[in-house]
Amino acid sequence: MKSQGIGFGKAILFNEHFVVYGIPSIVSAIGKYTVAKIEPCDQPKLILEDNRDATPNYKEEKIDQQNDSINRILKKMGIDISKNGIKITLNGNLYVASGIGASAASCVAIGRALSNYYNLNLSDDEINDISYEGEKGYHGTPSGVDNTASTYGGLIWFQKGENNIIEKIPISNPIEIVIGNTGKVANTAAAVAGVRERKEKNPEKYKEIFDRTENIAYLAKRALREGDYKEVGKLMNENHKLLQQIEVSSRELDFLVNVAREHGALGSKLTGGGLGGNIIALTPGKELQEKVTNAIEKEGFQTIKTVIGASWGGIE
Ligand code: MEV
Repeated sequence: MKSQGIGFGKAILFNEHFVVYGIPSIVSAIGKYTVAKIEPCDQPKLILEDNRDATPNYKEEKIDQQNDSINRILKKMGIDISKNGIKITLNGNLYVASGIGASAASCVAIGRALSNYYNLNLSDDEINDISYEGEKGYHGTPSGVDNTASTYGGLIWFQKGENNIIEKIPISNPIEIVIGNTGKVANTAAAVAGVRERKEKNPEKYKEIFDRTENIAYLAKRALREGDYKEVGKLMNENHKLLQQIEVSSRELDFLVNVAREHGALGSKLTGGGLGGNIIALTPGKELQEKVTNAIEKEGFQTIKTVIGASWGGIE
């Protein structure tokens, strides 16, 4: 007997970090995903086989967080493996790196696979809650934006609150993007903690920045709905500047952001926790997507070509 589940990778278009404090964010699932497979194992414990292709050192650096995350998922689901052990195998076409929802995708995939294996028949909302618990193993206090995109798919407006606001943003057609990987593994929990520390030290400066990011989210939602991708790109560029101001960018991220812009991307910014990890470039149309991809690869960096706003997953 074996059971499988999948979770999507994600790209945050607007307001990573700010989202932790209740500022609205815009995120999309991407067309890359992680698959988890559960099988019985003959020892009374958990065996993990992680076959995902990954940025060098990623898996080694995250192993403790990964174990913590899986234990949290099992606990939240009330699953006891002390008598009947299980083996979890991770695969899929999501190249594992910082910033593209690798941890969330694996939490969702594992949650779904466990639900199937134990015939729990869990809803998307339940899987999302379980994955949020799993994300705590990686992030400490995650906002929930990543697991939401990984669970439901599509282009999503996410605002953390007592009850999170999760709305699908309708767009007429999926939009091509390029994701560029600095090749640096980053620690999201440390990045989030750094922002908190600086915010407490400079409340006025940070208030001004945070106020603008809230505005940007509403302007971006409108521009996405209206298909005004030039405006979306401009707002992404501004969002990157604000992320630089809260000190979560890096030399490599800024470099890739500029390469993408110089080759015609309508906008580009870091995506995810920053301090390494990935950038996202908005490149509507296959031709522009190809051009920006080639430019980034020519500089020696890996890319993912995919789209945002495709209606995978449960939200319709
Ligand atoms: C990480 O993908 C996004 C952050 O905003 C953290 C979070 O929302 O939990 C940096």
